[in-house]
Amino acid sequence: MIILGIETSCDETAASIVVEGSEILSSMVSSQVDVHHKYGGVVPELASRKHIEDIVPIVKEAVSKADINFKQINALAVTQGPGLIGSLIVGFSFAKSFAYTLGIPWIGVNHLEGHINSVFLESNPPTFPFVSLLASGGHTSIYYVKDHTEMELMGQTRDDAAGEAFDKVSKAIGLGYPGGIVIDRLAKNGDPSKIVFPRSYLDKSGFDFSFSGIKTAVNRYIQTHGDEYKNQIPDILAGFQESVVDVLSYKVLNAAMKRGCDQISLVGGVAANSRLRERVIKDAGPKGIKVHIPSVDLCGDNAAMIAATGYHYLKNGKSSDISDDVYSRIKI
Ligand code: KG4
Ligand code: ZN
Repeated sequence: MIILGIETSCDETAASIVVEGSEILSSMVSSQVDVHHKYGGVVPELASRKHIEDIVPIVKEAVSKADINFKQINALAVTQGPGLIGSLIVGFSFAKSFAYTLGIPWIGVNHLEGHINSVFLESNPPTFPFVSLLASGGHTSIYYVKDHTEMELMGQTRDDAAGEAFDKVSKAIGLGYPGGIVIDRLAKNGDPSKIVFPRSYLDKSGFDFSFSGIKTAVNRYIQTHGDEYKNQIPDILAGFQESVVDVLSYKVLNAAMKRGCDQISLVGGVAANSRLRERVIKDAGPKGIKVHIPSVDLCGDNAAMIAATGYHYLKNGKSSDISDDVYSRIKI
């Protein structure tokens, strides 16, 4: 089954061609970072407008890069939610009309399930069941994954998402949006033990997170150190990053042990973080837990993960209907 995947939930317009839910023929992502950078975050109205401009060219590019023609596409999968309503509507409406024009089935996919399935686009994926840490700009959750389409929420953030904390700290320090990638890079030159920020474990045996406190702690440090903080930026960032990584690594490994799983996955934009990848692998080794992390390109928003997820629904005979609509918030 050749599936065209479409993703427009936030500030990336993405299209991808995936065969049998696992082989990527093309995965095109048009980022809107340039549009939103100067505002320090995503401006929803500008995001929708940019999706409208980019959707047709990006779909054409994905099809041409895959070296197929429109008639060879067997089905279509598109992000239905959660995300920015105006952005989702662009991809969803396009997908509906495109599927009806081609006379092929289509399916609306949950973006979070998409991230969890991203790991199946790599070779040697995990076997079910396993525990997954999904850390992105909008969500930070731990799931017990029973199947491609069946997952149980074990815990989630009670306030900010991990990626949101990276973005807010970056903004506070004047490094702009998006923050994760910049902090990842600059923290490499810092010493994580010089400025130690609090770790928010909440209940140490539970799987909920809280990242608003660490953001406030960094803000307070900046405010109380005058201009002096400007000479300490790498150490501040390394200290902040270490605090987030400590908690994420501890909780995902604890969740796996609680469920008796010897495999975990890290997915979502924050899973691109080099320190998180390194730390979780190091911490998991002595516990006999194998860590699966997609390549950096598949951690951030992409349409291949949407096509891969849609494949499993479509294979089981599920498809969406013309009357279906997008949703901004949902849990799985
Ligand atoms: O999954 P994603 O692309 O979009 C959402 O579904 O939210 O995640 C974006 C988030 C942003 O907050 C971004 O700052 C963060 O992932 N991110 C990172 C890194 N790359 C992206 N955070 C830490 N380290 C990175 N290398
Ligand atoms: Zn995402």
